[in-house]
Amino acid sequence: MIVTPHDGACGATVTGVRLAQLDDDAFAVVLAAWHTYGVLAFPGQHLSADEHVAFSRRIGQLENTNTKDRDSTEHRPTTLALSNVNRRGELVADPEARLNRYLRSNQHWHTDSSFKRISAKASMLAAVEVPSEGGETEYADMRAAYDAIGPGLQARLEGLVAVHSIAWSQSLAMGEDEVLSPEEQRYLPPVRHPLVRVHEPTGRPSLFIGRHARAIDGWGEGESRSLLDELLEGACQPPRVYTHRWQAGDAVLWDNRCMLHRGRPWDTSQARVMRRTTIAGDPAAPGDTNEWAL
Ligand code: OGA
Ligand code: MN
Repeated sequence: MIVTPHDGACGATVTGVRLAQLDDDAFAVVLAAWHTYGVLAFPGQHLSADEHVAFSRRIGQLENTNTKDRDSTEHRPTTLALSNVNRRGELVADPEARLNRYLRSNQHWHTDSSFKRISAKASMLAAVEVPSEGGETEYADMRAAYDAIGPGLQARLEGLVAVHSIAWSQSLAMGEDEVLSPEEQRYLPPVRHPLVRVHEPTGRPSLFIGRHARAIDGWGEGESRSLLDELLEGACQPPRVYTHRWQAGDAVLWDNRCMLHRGRPWDTSQARVMRRTTIAGDPAAPGDTNEWAL
């Protein structure tokens, strides 16, 4: 196995390994590298859905990612399709079709499931079919971003809590008419997370921000937006950003506790078919469930 850190960016690329047939010692090496680098790219894996799910389960319990998107090609509760080919096998080329507007909401910096009470630990995305250009995914390391803001701003952030809301972020990205159903709203009320959290495996503080972070708890809208927008803008800059240019068969595993990511645009007249698993965060208390289903 060869782990090559990305020059002038975050993350590393791992070659010489088959994720579908990894013994426990090799898995421990992958896990340690993942903790250090935050995002690992594994070119040429061509994982089946079962292999993808099985590898992800070695990291932790999977979230139920039942998508509310009726056009999704994926019916499994533990995988999520990010695809502009619908379940009837038709390419949805219209950039303004609901499916493409939904996919486009991922093009704002975020961390997966930060709108859930227990946010995600990890996500693993696998490329099944990719467009000839565009459609990259970018990653930014929020531990490095925390280090970069310096002691003055770090002190200002101490003790602050952010309110994350999917109802808000989705209406912002997709339009005011894109409201969640009453059932979704009941399952997905706004949740609170510390603005700075310690990345447990490395002990490093990390900014926990992104598109679902609506406000600072107890602050007004204007004050909240100016701090959150300033933090996000400053955080997602070189040398903290890695751009993954996908080839079919690639798998990328990232740590949602300390990384942000966003998709990049592509010409939707070309198919882009991706499959994701989401590994749940640790339960807050014994007996708490970290599985989530809509
Ligand atoms: C995701 C995501 C962006 C992309 O898989 O969670 O945000 O490039 N993906 O598809
Ligand atoms: Mn995402």
